[in-house]
Amino acid sequence: MPGNRIKLKFTLNEKDVTIECPPGRRLIDIIRLDFKLTGTKEGCGKGECGSCVILMNGNTVNSCIIPAFRLADANIVTIEGLARVKGIPDIRSLFAEIQPLQCGYCASGVQMVLAALLLQNPKPDEREIREALSGNICFCSAYSGLLKSALHVVKHSKKRRYAKRISG
Ligand code: FES
Repeated sequence: MPGNRIKLKFTLNEKDVTIECPPGRRLIDIIRLDFKLTGTKEGCGKGECGSCVILMNGNTVNSCIIPAFRLADANIVTIEGLARVKGIPDIRSLFAEIQPLQCGYCASGVQMVLAALLLQNPKPDEREIREALSGNICFCSAYSGLLKSALHVVKHSKKRRYAKRISG
């Protein structure tokens, strides 16, 4: 393999993409630097804060600790593609209706976790929401605002899901 690079094909926000890069290149760098999708944020860079969460094959992963070689044939969804995922409401818009966050740096990771939760459990209760978000660190400690937003998303998700379905 020339220069220890690998060629990978995967789906990114519903588009088939191909990249060539070192096998250990971090997914967050591929997303942010190679594809210029800067909605995914880097906090700790060690898999501990949840700022960089994206969906990989429908599951949440910390993109700062996922090496490129794991991307082969994967289905990746970032915050930029979240509104197009079937079966969940437009979480970004619903979050914007509340706007309790301070710096907003953790917001995309939180919204991705909420999306994964709603895909598995369309009607989570408050305990389940708290549990799902327990791995997301808010650097401003605006946890009550985050929970308020999450509850708003869940409360309105059924209605919005229906609206999304009938609008095509
Ligand atoms: Fe990836 Fe903190 S930046 S978990």
